[in-house]
Amino acid sequence: MCGIVGYIGDGESLPVLLTGLKALEYRGYDSAGVAIFSRGAVKEKKSLGRINVLEAATKGGDFSGSTGIAHTRWATHGVPSEANAHPHRDCGRRVFVVHNGIIENYRELKEYLIGRGHKFLSETDTESVAHLIEDFLKDGRDFKDALFAALKMIKGAYALALVDSNDPEKLYAARLSSPLVVGVGAGEYFLASDPSALIGRTKDIIYLKDGEVAVVRRDNIEIVNFENVPTPYEIIKLEWNLEEAQKGKYPHFMLKEIFEGPEVVRAAFRGRINAKDGAVKLGGLELIPEKLKGIKRLVIAACGTSYYAGLIGEYFFEEIADIPVEVQFASEFRYRREPFDPGTAVLAVSQSGETADTLAALRKAKENGLLTLGIVNVVGSTIARETDAGIYNHAGPEIGVASTKAFLSQVTCLLLMALYLAKDKTGQSALLRELENIPGKIEKILAQAPLIEKLSEKYQDSQNFLFLGRRYNYPTALEGALKLKEVSYIHAEGCGAGEMKHGPLAMIGPDFPTLAIAPQNGISDKINSNLEEIKARRGPIVAIATENDESLGSLASDLIRVPATLEPLEPLLTVIPLQLFAYYAGVKKGYDVDKPRNLAKSVTVE
Ligand code: M6R
Repeated sequence: MCGIVGYIGDGESLPVLLTGLKALEYRGYDSAGVAIFSRGAVKEKKSLGRINVLEAATKGGDFSGSTGIAHTRWATHGVPSEANAHPHRDCGRRVFVVHNGIIENYRELKEYLIGRGHKFLSETDTESVAHLIEDFLKDGRDFKDALFAALKMIKGAYALALVDSNDPEKLYAARLSSPLVVGVGAGEYFLASDPSALIGRTKDIIYLKDGEVAVVRRDNIEIVNFENVPTPYEIIKLEWNLEEAQKGKYPHFMLKEIFEGPEVVRAAFRGRINAKDGAVKLGGLELIPEKLKGIKRLVIAACGTSYYAGLIGEYFFEEIADIPVEVQFASEFRYRREPFDPGTAVLAVSQSGETADTLAALRKAKENGLLTLGIVNVVGSTIARETDAGIYNHAGPEIGVASTKAFLSQVTCLLLMALYLAKDKTGQSALLRELENIPGKIEKILAQAPLIEKLSEKYQDSQNFLFLGRRYNYPTALEGALKLKEVSYIHAEGCGAGEMKHGPLAMIGPDFPTLAIAPQNGISDKINSNLEEIKARRGPIVAIATENDESLGSLASDLIRVPATLEPLEPLLTVIPLQLFAYYAGVKKGYDVDKPRNLAKSVTVE
């Protein structure tokens, strides 16, 4: 993945581009570049490494100009190098382009263009776009026409921002299967891969749709399809604020976002529940009551943390709403050939709303005529727009690559959706009353952060970890293992505790600790027996146990206490120590937990 920022307006473009790139650094950070256009001159700078290197390289130089494009790269075609960093340009230094995505037919294009005399300076797929447009310009076409002609030849996925250096009073943007937004300011416009890059600049966002081109001037915008026919667009108000997008008093976004847990759960249920009456109101689902009544089977399609939240959702929908559920990795669902009956609905769960596999799963569901629902955090994102109905998480921007607060809000939203769809409302009032207590209970767990930090220090030399849970805490264990892997690079496996003796038990020994999620509930006796088996093999156990539960004292080497709650709500509490444990493990090892190696926040390529 890569990140794109563009600016045109009355102000200076460089500061806008640099702060935007910093916000997008999670998308890639092996090299970066900027091109600024003013009074017939183009000022370019590229550098290897993170955005602060580019920032230092531009400091003191003349980079004034009120039109500019910039890019942070995550290498796909060609090694990280200044030559391969964007912006790329044509031979005549007229066409400047930054790109996110993959030009699949770039080899053919490059060969064709070299045959026509073009000289390439990089190994990237992107450079072919600049030369291709130049080639069409030679035919006497204007820039917009040349761009359309080029887009018709390009195969693949792209978000492109372009400038014609002969006419820097316009910024061009094009989108196909890679996200791109336009920010609308007063006398200025912005382009970005993701609206988080524009926080503090504008709250008014236009999401470009696939197959659209935007021609942006400082005082107006024109959006057309590839046939140059104007397409309608909507300006969406993003309620994110600058404070939410800054670390504040926290050393890392990940820690800040874990500590936002109580507010995130509150925000997900605020205005949606009436605990006294046991009622749930979800505006996003109210327009399709008949279709919802027709749901006979639900497929939840998601990736990573959202998939694990979906696995918890499976219990909610089956046990509360009596709807059979299957949770599938979106990347598998999209290629699976399975028979559908008309009562099947597909629920896409995605924080970013831009994950390529989840989007493809959703589109497949639509092609098969199925009802599509969504639980999405980013307002106006592609998945949110393409589902038939859905609800937003209201979790605010999640900046850390490792998803933490989004998981909590997804679990809360899945619960609300299951309660909403349930025909038998018995017991809902008790669940909702307890849901209102959850934020306070999360706060009590967060107060134990120093203890969890010490525990992660105690186990910092362990090379492997097993995470165990049962029922609602089984997906929580999977999520805990993913968190530890992502930010500390320690090998971790999540497992249903009952599955232990069918294989994983073979790994257990004094050097292989287990993190067991074992709150007191209807299945505690079973999990305690599983822990006995581990103890008998001298495996160290860190247990997440209910306050005042003494039954684990003799089994566990270490205990983390969580307040008692109703079983379906346990993941909202038990995941917090796991997130903190992973966070501290990564920090102790000196890793950048907000930007783990090899990972990107929103995976917009397959
Ligand atoms: O934006 P999405 O929720 O669709 O993203 C799905 C996964 O890519 C994401 O949860 C990923 O696994 C995170 N790095 C987990 O921390």
